[in-house]
Amino acid sequence: MPITKICCIGAGYVGGPTCSVIALKCPHIRVTVVDKSYERIAQWNSSKLPIYEPGLDDVVQQRRNKNLFFSTDIAQVRPYIPDVKVCGRALLTRKTFVHKQAIEEAELIFISVNTPTKTFGNGKGRAADLKYVESAARMIADIATGDKIVVEKSTVPVRAAESIMNILRANHKPGVSYQILSNPEFLAEGTAIEDLLNADRVLIGGEESPEGQAAIEQLCQVYEHWIPRKNIITTNTWSSELSKLAANAILAQRISSINSLSAVCEATGADVSEVARAVGLDSRIGPKFMQASVGFGGSCFQKDILNLVYICECLNLPEVAAYWQQVIDMNEYQKSRFSAKVIESLFNTVTDKKISLLGFAFKKNTGDTRESPAIHVAKTLLDEGAKLHIYDPKVEESQILLDLTHPSVTAEPEHVRERISIYKDAYSATKNTHAIVICTEWDEFMELDFKRIYADMMKPAYIFDGRKILDHDKLQKIGFIVQTIGKKLIRSSISRVWGSQTQM
Ligand SMILES: NC(=O)c1ccc[n+]([C@@H]2O[C@H](COP(=O)([O-])OP(=O)(O)OC[C@H]3O[C@@H](n4cnc5c(N)ncnc54)[C@H](O)[C@@H]3O)[C@@H](O)[C@H]2O)c1
Repeated sequence: MPITKICCIGAGYVGGPTCSVIALKCPHIRVTVVDKSYERIAQWNSSKLPIYEPGLDDVVQQRRNKNLFFSTDIAQVRPYIPDVKVCGRALLTRKTFVHKQAIEEAELIFISVNTPTKTFGNGKGRAADLKYVESAARMIADIATGDKIVVEKSTVPVRAAESIMNILRANHKPGVSYQILSNPEFLAEGTAIEDLLNADRVLIGGEESPEGQAAIEQLCQVYEHWIPRKNIITTNTWSSELSKLAANAILAQRISSINSLSAVCEATGADVSEVARAVGLDSRIGPKFMQASVGFGGSCFQKDILNLVYICECLNLPEVAAYWQQVIDMNEYQKSRFSAKVIESLFNTVTDKKISLLGFAFKKNTGDTRESPAIHVAKTLLDEGAKLHIYDPKVEESQILLDLTHPSVTAEPEHVRERISIYKDAYSATKNTHAIVICTEWDEFMELDFKRIYADMMKPAYIFDGRKILDHDKLQKIGFIVQTIGKKLIRSSISRVWGSQTQM
């Protein structure tokens, strides 16, 4: 039976774009995206979508309220999460809202909820917190009155499908059966629509039973509307779950590898861009993910590798766990190294100096700040007493304030608020500052009039290019003192007044 109705639980960076593209490519399928956040659903139904993603507005406009719905159709059902325990008995007081109709009607349900790193309890700081996946599974079990294919779209630990199945089986109603599939998402923020439209591959894992294979086939048929069959790979469930963690671990590993070499370049006079180019031209290696920078960020790399490390430890594979942990450690080192370089260059003190941070998102073409290296850099500079002028083309002021006053960043939110100012453009953000720190590789930063910026800055004027996007020779000719990643810049035209030695 072909799928005619899909429900997606979770209207975030994955659920929203993925379902918009399915609706675009499968006009005969009714796609409903639901979320526990009223605000998020209201934004999906407004002219200002909750996430910035090139091409997304256009796709949503084409299909919204035709076969793509962002639902506020919520009903209250039996509460299932105890708020408080009294004398060993759960006091069921928390109200649980669910998206009744969309779940009831759908033949196929995507679970696209967040799976953050656990912040407390067993596996704290490493294991994936599956509480949202679990609550989505319970919601489905509560509502479903007919057979469902439940698809893990969220990134989960290996064998999470088993836990979902346990919840569904333990709560199933007579005559209702479930198939669980793993269909991890490989899109990257900033290029999500392009990635979804032209996916390198779609991966679907399921049970090897005839029912499992039939469910895989039904999901294959959805993707086949725009993805060539040869690019749709089917595996067993566990391979599919592990492949997603493995893909993110290997991508991040490449970044950490080139970043580690950037430190060697700075110490030797080699240029990391030249090294990356020479190495990347080897067809066995390739040029992608070889750009040295201030470090990787985003909601996935760190969390998924930590999850992999935790799984390896639980499987009693300490050497494997230590190997992947090093990818994270190298990233931390890179962020700290860059922040330290800023402070050291500014005469070892930034107290009361004004520093402009250009870019706050974790990468260009997104407004997402989760695990952004900019947060690390900002925290270090604030701890050292700097005043920050921040500008990002797509990150909302409220988000920057939220990130920098988070308890993990400061114990004194008021103090931080006094020391940061957020600007609407790069020119006003850099005016009267001592230094510019580039934290995100936004294209518009390459187009800035740096002569004008230089004229309005304190002297000597510094630029720290954490993304290696600027023309450093040109900036030095203007008069800037420039520092970047993986290359020692020689200021040949400027001699120290106290000697003939060239300043580095
Ligand atoms: N962001 C990415 O680039 C990316 C890429 C590939 C995979 N992933 C994975 O996809 C999953 C989702 O990531 P995201 O970035 O879209 O997260 P997100 O935080 O942007 O969105 C998750 C949404 O799920 C909602 N939600 C949580 N529990 C719910 C429930 N019980 N009922 C209804 N709504 C609920 C939240 O309110 C939120 O809006 C994660 O597992 C992530 O690792 C993310």
